[in-house]
Amino acid sequence: MVSPVSSPNIVEAVGLTKVFRDFWLRTKARAVDNVDFEIHPSEIFGLLGPNGSGKSTIIKMILGLLHKTRGRLSVFGKAPSDVSIKRRIGFLPEESYLYQFLNSRETLDYYGKLFGLDYRTRRRRTDELLDMVGLSHVAHRPIGEFSKGMTRRIGLAQALVNDPDFLILDEPTSGLDPIGTRQVKDLIVELGKRGKTILLSSHLLADVEDVCDRMVMLYAGRIRAQGTVDELLCDTKRTIIETSRLEPETIVQIEQVIQRCEGMGIDKVDSPRQRLEQFFMDLVEKARREQVATAGVVHGGPTARFLRGEDARGEDLIESLSREEKELVGIRPAAASEAPQPPGDEVLAQLLAEESNQAAGPADQAATAPKSPQDVESSVIDALLGGDDVAQGEEPPGDEKS
Ligand SMILES: Nc1ncnc2c1ncn2[C@@H]1O[C@H](COP(=O)(O)OP(=O)(O)OP(=O)(O)O)[C@@H](O)[C@H]1O
Ligand SMILES: [Mg+2]
Repeated sequence: MVSPVSSPNIVEAVGLTKVFRDFWLRTKARAVDNVDFEIHPSEIFGLLGPNGSGKSTIIKMILGLLHKTRGRLSVFGKAPSDVSIKRRIGFLPEESYLYQFLNSRETLDYYGKLFGLDYRTRRRRTDELLDMVGLSHVAHRPIGEFSKGMTRRIGLAQALVNDPDFLILDEPTSGLDPIGTRQVKDLIVELGKRGKTILLSSHLLADVEDVCDRMVMLYAGRIRAQGTVDELLCDTKRTIIETSRLEPETIVQIEQVIQRCEGMGIDKVDSPRQRLEQFFMDLVEKARREQVATAGVVHGGPTARFLRGEDARGEDLIESLSREEKELVGIRPAAASEAPQPPGDEVLAQLLAEESNQAAGPADQAATAPKSPQDVESSVIDALLGGDDVAQGEEPPGDEKS
């Protein structure tokens, strides 16, 4: 047996059991019964099972919200109750426990604060997430007024605000329309490609089949099947050959070849049917292109930039650099209480060299280069001489200090 501390897996469960008991310690429900499974890093893992099969109970034990009765469970190699792993986990519960009187913006800001994000990061992530889940236009309405699908969307945004390494989604598509469902599935796949580990619980077979790398199927708290989608679903006894439409004479010739080579005929020749989901998506997309007016939900935008790992670029980087300058300018005179000195020859030469470099290369390349102490020094001198940059770097009026 591998010790929980040395486990390279994100989750490892061995003989995991949860029995709910009443006041007299009589068994009420054996919700999870001796299950073994592991979730590997960067994998999309499905928990599939009918109502009451133990999916949410497993999730609650992983989150440390319920204590196991027996067995072993580790998350990031630690006990689920360990607080140091909490900031690496994002959780969308089966039922949203969001504050009904807060609006979406306040909700995301609140959860961002819980994770210790600074004001600018919270504001940027809130904007990107609201846009992504299609709620920007109702950002100021209290969550208590939201429909079920809208509540699901804000719940998903909340689960992502800390850019978690491990995302746990309990029935993420319940209450969502087909477009919302597709967006959530696309988002899960995209996050999976970015190396996130995702645990998805659902009783909707298509959800799990479409996105999961591996899954377990539960029934009455026990694992009945486990493996990759191909391992579980591949029918090795049959063959499908897919082509564009064939003429009947061609099919006759193919059947003759199969008869000759394999000694059998073709069981069925058919035109494939489109999936209802795809048909519906195409229909809505067409209506949207024709700009048919709708009073319903405006569907979500692209995946938030910070979730695509594009945080340390462009504006964000400029913001962070100007903040650094402002901090240095603010600290310097107070610490040394000295009058600004004119720049020495060395610094001026460096400034000139820097300018010509910037003119020659792309701006973002120059910006992403690590700042040497001299670089910082030259920024300070710029600021002292001109003062313009400093003004740009100042905290906007009304900015929260946190
Ligand atoms: N707090 C509790 N007290 C007593 N029994 C519970 C408790 N929570 C869950 N159970 C029982 O444990 C079993 C598994 O419940 P669980 O919520 O894990 O199922 P599930 O697979 O998530 O179902 P669903 O698809 O309906 O969400 C059920 O029989 C349920 O009644
Ligand atoms: Mg459940």
